[in-house]
Amino acid sequence: MTAIPQERRVVTAIPGPKSAELQARRLAAVAAGVGSTLPVFTARAGGGIIEDVDGNRLIDFGSGIAVTSVGASAEAVVRRASAQLADFTHTCFMVTPYEGYVEVCEQLAELTPGDHAKKSALFNSGAEAVENAVKIARAYTKRTAVVVFDHGYHGRTNLTMALTAKNMPYKQGFGPFAPEVYRVPVAYGYRWPTGAENAGAEASAQAIDEITKQIGAENVAAIIIEPVLGEGGFIEPAKGFLPAIAQFAKDNGIVFVADEIQSGFCRTGQWFACEDEGIVPDLITTAKGIAGGLPLSAVTGRAEIMDAAHAGGLGGTYGGNPVACAGALGSIETMRELDLNGKAKRIEEVMKGRLAEMQSKLPNGDLIGDIRGRGAMIAIELVKSGTKDPNPEAAARLAKACHAEGVLVLTCGTYGNVLRFLPPLVIGEDLLNEGLDVLEQAFAGV
Ligand SMILES: Cc1ncc(COP(=O)(O)O)c(C=O)c1O
Repeated sequence: MTAIPQERRVVTAIPGPKSAELQARRLAAVAAGVGSTLPVFTARAGGGIIEDVDGNRLIDFGSGIAVTSVGASAEAVVRRASAQLADFTHTCFMVTPYEGYVEVCEQLAELTPGDHAKKSALFNSGAEAVENAVKIARAYTKRTAVVVFDHGYHGRTNLTMALTAKNMPYKQGFGPFAPEVYRVPVAYGYRWPTGAENAGAEASAQAIDEITKQIGAENVAAIIIEPVLGEGGFIEPAKGFLPAIAQFAKDNGIVFVADEIQSGFCRTGQWFACEDEGIVPDLITTAKGIAGGLPLSAVTGRAEIMDAAHAGGLGGTYGGNPVACAGALGSIETMRELDLNGKAKRIEEVMKGRLAEMQSKLPNGDLIGDIRGRGAMIAIELVKSGTKDPNPEAAARLAKACHAEGVLVLTCGTYGNVLRFLPPLVIGEDLLNEGLDVLEQAFAGV
């Protein structure tokens, strides 16, 4: 599948000298607001490995933030995108259309939950998909208010900054934000005051009460939620929460939008995470894993809702670019052929088993307050020993120690205290275990 040997190799300090040189050029030329988790410069990547310009091979537990689920150089993605590149790079679908765009929309109709008539519109980024879901919901309902949740993340554009919960680094200094956005509680089981077992019922009741009393259900165009909250800390809303909110939306003519940009396309062991509780969203936003690394996003949903926007109201020069569409068709083909849902479930089994062992056996295993997530979207929430107080320092030190040993891990969470693991779904089990060995050793230094 890929020419890159699937083995970890650390031959220089990380970052190495060539990366350091490039980083110096980057600091002089690239705006400071664009950060990087680890400034090792990539030479090539594929399977479960990122090879840097110094010849180091890192085990990839990040997938470019949940994007390269099929690997960063999947054969079918490369083959289809290369062929498309040679045929034509762009016409603009709004000027003269092409088949790939239509085929991606057909695939989305087939793969997303529900057997109702569906349509899609394609865009470039996740934030753009979310913005368009709001436009479509407003056009359909003729209402303006949008409800989002504590710990939610939906992007960095003006409207999506308003939808995103966390101030620093996403919003600080960038306001004013878009109006008519309201935030309500989510069922964060680990931190719910009366316990995880009550979180689903109590949080949904609170959220519904706030929507009804503070906004008025009749003013709400859309409720937008990530079925597993990504940047907020891989929070799986406690059981019962999503069905209650989806039912409330249905009863009140509100468009229920599942933001599956991070959790979709086999990441959680199902095509879409909302399937876990049998939720059928009115609209679903997708991006990231959809196209094997090429920039593509989509809004998919009930045909009558999707058709509410007038012709010319949706779109954009590059939306549904033909090369990105070809990449998506290659990515979906790979997911089906390699049964990447099955692979994600196996990754969960291995990871959760190993992490639970670390929690119970390591002398400082109680730094791991919670192990959660589904499929290949797994996280540990780090706390101060014997408490639930967030421990972002431990998360940062563990990440740093893993990086130094050639394992790329990412942090997230409202409190910055969550280590998240998002390996490519095609990663070999030996690499997966080796990455976890490195994490286990990293605990010794915290
Ligand atoms: C759930 C969710 N929504 C929206 C976005 C924004 O996507 P993009 O960065 O492609 O704009 C992200 C990105 O992390 C995300 O995780």
